[in-house]
Amino acid sequence: MMKSDGTKRETPTLHNQAEKGQIAECVLMPGDPQRARFIAENYLADARLVSEVRGIYAYTGSCRGRKVSVMASGMGAGSMGIYSYELFQFYGVEKIIRVGSAGGLSPHLALRDIVIGTASSTDTGYALQYGLPGTLAPCGDFGLARKAFDYAEKKGLGCRAGMLFSGEAFYYEEEILRKWAQMGALAVEMESAALYMNAAKTHKKALAICTISDLVFSGEKCSVEERQNSFDDMIKMALSIIT
Ligand code: HPA
Repeated sequence: MMKSDGTKRETPTLHNQAEKGQIAECVLMPGDPQRARFIAENYLADARLVSEVRGIYAYTGSCRGRKVSVMASGMGAGSMGIYSYELFQFYGVEKIIRVGSAGGLSPHLALRDIVIGTASSTDTGYALQYGLPGTLAPCGDFGLARKAFDYAEKKGLGCRAGMLFSGEAFYYEEEILRKWAQMGALAVEMESAALYMNAAKTHKKALAICTISDLVFSGEKCSVEERQNSFDDMIKMALSIIT
């Protein structure tokens, strides 16, 4: 990036043009950049675009007097892995809340319910980089999860806390997802495991909360309007636990 005096501005990473200090300690991360823009424009006061490298928008504004950022993660462990690692490691970010959608696997879930990911099982190789002599259990932060659950109870929202399956792929043979459901996975998405591993690696806090946009085994899907309403509940929940 060029500064107005023509000199080159150093930014902490290749993937983010924000300067250190332009990103808040708490960041909401939807997968979709358009969702990041929507959250900034509709839920934050005085939101400013601070990065748009590769169309991955990041905005910083405030909510109830607290500085808050929202940045897209993109899809999958690789993309979430890059952006969340850089936020934690180079931008001084302390808490990241993923606000996403997920496919329901549990028969106890209905469309629009919210799942709080207390744990995230994965078939990705993301943990291989740590060379651990065993299997890592990627976990959501308990304090954040408790606040999220309390919020849902207070507001009477359909909400469950438990294991997500954070997959490498979007398109699976049904029998694979049935096996994860058998082992207790409530819902399938693609980003929480990498997020939780980066939080573990950098000693920071993270939580994924996901609205159920479709039920994998019945094929039921939310209408556009239902998606918008459940999205609103989820964003309000996420903001309530960090402000
Ligand atoms: N997989 C399947 N269904 C979904 C997903 C996913 O990652 N996200 C939202 N619905």
